[in-house]
Amino acid sequence: MPRYAITTFGCQMNVHDSERMHDVLRRAGYAEAGDPDEADVLVLNTCSVREKAEQKLRSEVGRLARWKRERPDRVLVVAGCVAQQEGERLLKQMRAIDMVVGPDNIPELPGLLGDLALGGLPIARTVFDTEAPRFLAASPPQGASGRAPTAFVTIMKGCDERCSFCVVPYTRGPERYRPSDEIVAEIAGLVAAGTREVTLLGQTVNSYRDPLGALPAAPGASPDDPDESEFAALLRRIAADVPGLARLRYTSPHPRHLTPSLILAHAELAVLPRHVHLPVQSGSDRVLRRMIRRYTRAEYVARTRALAAAVPGLSLSTDIIVGFPGETEDDFAATLSLVREVGFKGLFGFKYSRRPHTPALRLADDVPEDVKGARLSRLFEESEALLSAHLQGLVGTTQEVLVEGRDKERGHGGHGGALWSGRTGRHEIAHVEGAEELDLLGEIVEVAVVRANKHSLQAELTEAARAAARPRQRGGEEPGRPARRALPVLSAEGG
Ligand code: SAH
Ligand code: F3S
Repeated sequence: MPRYAITTFGCQMNVHDSERMHDVLRRAGYAEAGDPDEADVLVLNTCSVREKAEQKLRSEVGRLARWKRERPDRVLVVAGCVAQQEGERLLKQMRAIDMVVGPDNIPELPGLLGDLALGGLPIARTVFDTEAPRFLAASPPQGASGRAPTAFVTIMKGCDERCSFCVVPYTRGPERYRPSDEIVAEIAGLVAAGTREVTLLGQTVNSYRDPLGALPAAPGASPDDPDESEFAALLRRIAADVPGLARLRYTSPHPRHLTPSLILAHAELAVLPRHVHLPVQSGSDRVLRRMIRRYTRAEYVARTRALAAAVPGLSLSTDIIVGFPGETEDDFAATLSLVREVGFKGLFGFKYSRRPHTPALRLADDVPEDVKGARLSRLFEESEALLSAHLQGLVGTTQEVLVEGRDKERGHGGHGGALWSGRTGRHEIAHVEGAEELDLLGEIVEVAVVRANKHSLQAELTEAARAAARPRQRGGEEPGRPARRALPVLSAEGG
């Protein structure tokens, strides 16, 4: 049986696409290699959102040239956004690459590999499926222990916004939506197989419209509002049709579509947790206009205030770009003041990076690199302080944690075993101490917060939760890491 390995760079969408590639390859008779260096087929699922991410591919291919030389029958596949962006050019530039496949061409992967095995020439396949969009469903989750408590479900792909800095509309194509029946069926299947939490995925996830036209209008939806979508209607249908689902998250929404119908859904649906990741990019109206974000600072603040009023205890996280062309000290000060005003509890910060095919290429990249770096550091100082105060304020409270897996560092808990860890409803990371002997995977447990770490909480089970928990079976399989990378918010990161 030929063996394959997949290396993933970039966002949740890529993590999810890699899961689909695993499915497609396994079904075609490939087996996953334990060590990527041992694989017959190696897939690099790439990211091109910033230049640094694209460089990662180039250095990885450089490293793999030797791997290829050792056994020329090995196949190196480049998938993802750099594949879509560069297409055939990659084959010419880097001879070690045998195949380039775009995000919409994952189902064709086994066929293309078959052609290569028969002596076919290196090939690039990067065609958008605009006519008949395909959404590959997940096969039931398989963590190391057979139970994956969390899963991603794609509801739309592509992006019709034209944020002037962003290459995604070019690499992922126009917006295409998945039929609501398929979405509900996939989530119901996941929940039946043990999934507790689903994260709906899309580039502008809340611009969703049902191509079947099968959703009744959501309460509060205004047909005259150009920003109205059917996202709230979809959330309501999922909540009604899959009552066993414990938590329903989504990423990433666009502030433009945070309409009253979505705010009302948050107020009324218990399945929606009290955390939303809502990219803002900048706090300066001048910069927002030049970024073509299509909202003002005041609109962003008003909408998030309305959401916070509807959801007591809500926490927000965001994405911010520093050093966008023309960003002055005053513009950046406006961003810092917005971070304080909204009180983000998590933040991804990035230095502006010029990307091919983007409207902002027409603007001079005029903020010097060291100024970008200094602004990013100040931004992180601000957000770290907010997060730290927030986590500190939770010490002594009780929280409900969905247990996703066990921490890597063994012995870290003082009991010789790895700690269970998971997320609160607000998405704070929580490590659960003193429960190593219990089986908590996939459980939503009540914990008392005993300490705040830099980016997470340290907690213990409450008496009631301990009494209700199952002991771990001896000799059973270790659950290991969560089967997916968690939505990486409520931390300050980026670069
Ligand atoms: N809508 C997408 C956003 C994709 S890009 C989503 O679902 O997440 C993710 C983040 O990368 C953006 O929010 C933005 O903050 C950042 N980003 C995008 N293009 C960038 C660029 N050219 N330079 C720096 N950061 C960028
Ligand atoms: Fe990119 Fe803006 Fe779409 S950030 S993915 S163009 S909403």
